[in-house]
Amino acid sequence: MVLPRPDPDRPTPSPRGPLLSGGRFAIVARRLVTCDPSRATAGDALGVIEDAAIVVRRGAIEVVGSRQEILAAEPTLEIALDAAGVVTPGLIDGHTHAPWVGSRDAEYAVRMAGGDYEAIAAAGGGIVASMRAVRAATAGELAGALRARLRRMAALGVTAVEAKSGYGLDEASERKQLEAVAEAGRDARLPRVVPTYLALHALPPEAGGDRAAYAEVVARSWLPAIAAGGLARYVDAYIDRSAFSVAEARPVLERARALGLGVRVHVGQFADVGGAELAADLGAASADHLEHVAPAGIAALARAGVAAALLPVASFTLRQEPPPVAALRAAGVPLIVGSDANPGTAPTESLPLALALAVRLYGLTVAEAILGATREAAAALGLGGVCGAVRPGLRADLAVWDLPHENAIVQPWGAPRALAVLRDGEVIATAG
Ligand code: NIG
Ligand code: FE
Repeated sequence: MVLPRPDPDRPTPSPRGPLLSGGRFAIVARRLVTCDPSRATAGDALGVIEDAAIVVRRGAIEVVGSRQEILAAEPTLEIALDAAGVVTPGLIDGHTHAPWVGSRDAEYAVRMAGGDYEAIAAAGGGIVASMRAVRAATAGELAGALRARLRRMAALGVTAVEAKSGYGLDEASERKQLEAVAEAGRDARLPRVVPTYLALHALPPEAGGDRAAYAEVVARSWLPAIAAGGLARYVDAYIDRSAFSVAEARPVLERARALGLGVRVHVGQFADVGGAELAADLGAASADHLEHVAPAGIAALARAGVAAALLPVASFTLRQEPPPVAALRAAGVPLIVGSDANPGTAPTESLPLALALAVRLYGLTVAEAILGATREAAAALGLGGVCGAVRPGLRADLAVWDLPHENAIVQPWGAPRALAVLRDGEVIATAG
């Protein structure tokens, strides 16, 4: 497959041809962003190789280096894909609520006219509105919506997605969401999925306002059953002033740890109620949002090696100030960038949009944004030995862009700019 040189003035023809299946082949690229720390230098955090080749064998990356040297050493190697633009690791979306159905467009219009997100939730809208849609959907409808969403995400350059439940709010409906995620996870033509049980998201109406009792049944009954079914790798909780408190969330998350699951938490989206310290205490994989976090919380995250998941689409729609990115960076907290794809605060499926906003609104460098959606996201999802960089031993998960340089990936295109997206060396999406 020979991909055309990017030309902003000409429409790009879609690549056609067979999947790059089986055997051993090379992908060559005019510019390769490896995200391999062993190639990074002071002036090049992304470890870029110009005129590069990647040798793929049975879906894994075998060799990475200069095109000239690799092809000189092995002149008969089949070149399956010749990219005239930039190639990166497949993007990894480290925070999504992907298994949802329904639309909250009316709520969005109210918010844009000045309505308050927390007040709408308190009046029975928000997360509970999505709960009603998820409960009403059949398992097949939910799984179909998720698969379609994951296909659209793949077309945007994404090869791995964290996917949370949290719109079921009863055991059967949370399981329905997680079973849809598991089904998608068995399909090698979709991005990889990492399932998270968002155990504490909102109170369903039948809980009668009793947060403590709801958290207790989650910890004692639903969580162990979901863990036993192998339906989640992580457990999440929304810890905030109008959500769950640290005291309510701690036993649920401690139980998750005791059951061998990882923890990631929504913290500090509206107020700092001590969620960052809890995340640090529990050795969470990530603390997400963090628009409101005090220096002590940042220091705790840094000491515990907890990554910060930055979600700029959500803070954009909520008209919030950015998280304290400079302080997080200075403390050495790893930064990841996620779409937060959800029908309320981040009605998007686009990780590239989140990258564009992370650069424009949060002041991330291009390199920070790209690492936050590749290597750092992989590490925070437990995929560091699988994907997130282009280096020997990892899977051949790649995005081939119709763009000349990685700087262009973080521009707000509003349209898919991946020419071809590969998972395990197979094309899972193409342009057009
Ligand atoms: O990450 N605020 C908590 N959870 C989601 C939004 C959920 C929703 O509004 O449906 C978030 O922003
Ligand atoms: Fe979220």
